[in-house]
Amino acid sequence: MPSVVLGVSGGIAAYKACELLRGLTESGHDVTVVPTAAALEFVGAPTWAALSGKPVTTEVWSSVHEVPHVRIGEHADLVLVAPATADLLAKAAHGLADDLLTNTLLTARCPVLFAPAMHTEMWEHPATQANVATLRERGAIVLEPAVGRLTGADSGKGRLPEPSEILHIALDLLARRLHNPDATTAQDLAGRRIVVSAGGTREYLDPVRFLSNRSSGLQGYALARTAAGRGAQVTLVAANVTLPDPAGVNVVRVETTAQLREAVLAASADADAVVMAAAPADFRPLTTSTAKIKKADDGTTPSIELTQNPDILAELSGNRPNDDIVVVGFAAETGDEAATVLQYAQAKLAKKGCDLLVVNDVSGGRVFGESDNEAIVLDANGGAVGIPRASKSAVAQAIWDRVLTLWS
Ligand code: CTP
Repeated sequence: MPSVVLGVSGGIAAYKACELLRGLTESGHDVTVVPTAAALEFVGAPTWAALSGKPVTTEVWSSVHEVPHVRIGEHADLVLVAPATADLLAKAAHGLADDLLTNTLLTARCPVLFAPAMHTEMWEHPATQANVATLRERGAIVLEPAVGRLTGADSGKGRLPEPSEILHIALDLLARRLHNPDATTAQDLAGRRIVVSAGGTREYLDPVRFLSNRSSGLQGYALARTAAGRGAQVTLVAANVTLPDPAGVNVVRVETTAQLREAVLAASADADAVVMAAAPADFRPLTTSTAKIKKADDGTTPSIELTQNPDILAELSGNRPNDDIVVVGFAAETGDEAATVLQYAQAKLAKKGCDLLVVNDVSGGRVFGESDNEAIVLDANGGAVGIPRASKSAVAQAIWDRVLTLWS
């Protein structure tokens, strides 16, 4: 059973770590909770002990014969600190070890994931930013806090990302470690700026009606989440997706193809990779009525004249914001008597001019809204790599592996 240390430091978001703990134990992990003394001011030791099924202590003087200050960190497959306060990040960055959690952080040889939560001023303070940079340089994963409601009525950047999203990143890290036990932390996307688009755009006929498509956004969200988990700075341009924001990701919400185009091009200016997982509507109504279109009394039906939307992927590929950018497209294809899925996809790769094309066979409506996916990744040199059916997270990891080979 994989072993996880859940470090909890003293912030109001400590109560959300209970949900995280539940998620970790229910997904088959042996969890040792190591709160700081301040964390116990927010949530008491009995709660942690009951939920984890283990005794809980904050200091190094309990069960000394078992040398807990070394043993806990050494045996962990993942150390996750949520919430990580400014004080805890400062201690970790400076290697202080005055309680069980900070000792554990010094002895851990496994991936270490911090989910910070604090007031915006504290997060933005140069001291905190310098500490975060130091921790990231050393290979720790420090998620960007979410933007939203803080302790009181105030809101801003500094909120703990949703526990379910932190759990996703933790599970991805554990799965990758299982796959490659030698890698301490696979922060192979650290320092990379990545743009991912997701969801399906809406093209309005009038204020209440629109044309859209069946894209759920799940694959794009998995791409954003997994890239953040591998250390990238991620902007996710989301078109009409109702999923929770992935932890550590900057989410830009759009509705129409025109808005998606604008947001993707703006974010791509200094990007190392752009992945167009969104399904922008190819057509939009030539005109959008400002008032709701009424039914005619005589039963005549309106006809809708459509005009073509710009192709964002082709535009980005043909007019690259920098020489090193990797541009990835998606193709949802069906085969017919004229050509196979792969033949259509190869033609699409050539037409769009992107570096990689992730091809999904959607014959019979497969893929949409499903938690699993399978794909073939084509490259511009005629190469093709199959990604066998797996979770959309695993497919996302395989896509990032392909992107990494292009950079190298
Ligand atoms: N795409 C885009 N802008 C559009 C339409 C599509 O950037 N207006 C991107 C999608 O995000 C995806 C890729 O292009 O990465 C493939 O989209 P797809 O709809 O399959 O291709 P189309 O060009 O629309 O071809 P088809 O004629 O098969 O619909």
